[in-house]
Amino acid sequence: MLLLAIESSCDETAVAVVRDGREILANLIASQVDLHAVYGGVVPELASRRHLETINPLTVEALSQAGVGQEQLEGVVVTRGPGLVGALLVGVAFAKAFAYACGIPVLGVHHIEGHILAIQLEQQVAFPFLALAVSGGHTHLFRVDGIGQYRLLGRTVDDAAGEAFDKVAKMLGLSYPGGPIIDKLAQGGDDGGIVFPRPLLKKAHCDFSFSGLKTAVLNHLQRLGEKPDEKRVAQIAAAFQTAVVDVLTQKTLRAAAAEGLNRIVVAGGVACNSGLRKRFSELAVRNELTVHFPAPLLCADNAAMLAVAGDYYLRQGFSSGLDLNAVSNWPLEQVGVFNF
Ligand code: KG4
Ligand code: ZN
Repeated sequence: MLLLAIESSCDETAVAVVRDGREILANLIASQVDLHAVYGGVVPELASRRHLETINPLTVEALSQAGVGQEQLEGVVVTRGPGLVGALLVGVAFAKAFAYACGIPVLGVHHIEGHILAIQLEQQVAFPFLALAVSGGHTHLFRVDGIGQYRLLGRTVDDAAGEAFDKVAKMLGLSYPGGPIIDKLAQGGDDGGIVFPRPLLKKAHCDFSFSGLKTAVLNHLQRLGEKPDEKRVAQIAAAFQTAVVDVLTQKTLRAAAAEGLNRIVVAGGVACNSGLRKRFSELAVRNELTVHFPAPLLCADNAAMLAVAGDYYLRQGFSSGLDLNAVSNWPLEQVGVFNF
């Protein structure tokens, strides 16, 4: 089954062509980072307008790169939510119009379902597994028993980990998005002996909290009294990242043990973090687990990731219809065939 996939939930316009939910023929991402960087974060109105300008030419380019004519396509999958509603609507409206013009079905897919299943484009990870979805909007742990079968085990009670990376970067005078910059600075490995708190780490439940950690960085900066020099900025970045990595890895491992799962999938933009990847890999060996990370291009927002679930649901005969609408809030646990 040859699918066109469209993603526009935040600040990347992405279009992919994927065969059988597995073989990527094209996976294009037009990033809006430069557009939003001057504001220190995503401006929803600007994001929607840029999606609108980009989505058509990017689709033409993706089809050309894939060597696929639109008459060969058998379905269109699109991010239905969660995300910025104006941004989502551009993708949803485009996907519906394209599918209608081609006479093929359209299907709305959950963004986080896309992230969690992206790994299946590279390797077959057998169900059940534990998924840590860690991005700008999510820090959630799910037990995954199959496509469409997600049980929420824990989630952040305040900021998402990616959001904390971005906000701390802003405090440190670094640009947007801050996650990759903090990651790079932290690679020096010198935390200058700074120790930040590990929120909720001692609690037995699987919830996360990052807002207190963010405040701890702010307090540290205020105590310094002066603008930190480059070396100090790198040390704070390293100490912050270590605290985040500690909490994410230890809580995930604890949840895996409680659920009796020995396969872990880490998904979403923060899964690009080199410290997180390294620590999880070390812990995997020590704890006889396998930890799977998609390649960085498939961790960050992309459209190919939507095709795994898309292919599965469309083959089952489910599609969305032309009344498909975008939803800004949509808990993954509520994904199910009845949502279509
Ligand atoms: O999944 P994603 O691309 O978009 C959302 O669905 O939110 O995730 C974006 C988030 C941003 O907060 C960004 O700073 C973070 O992922 N991120 C990273 C790294 N690369 C991206 N955080 C830490 N280390 C990285 N290397
Ligand atoms: Zn995402």
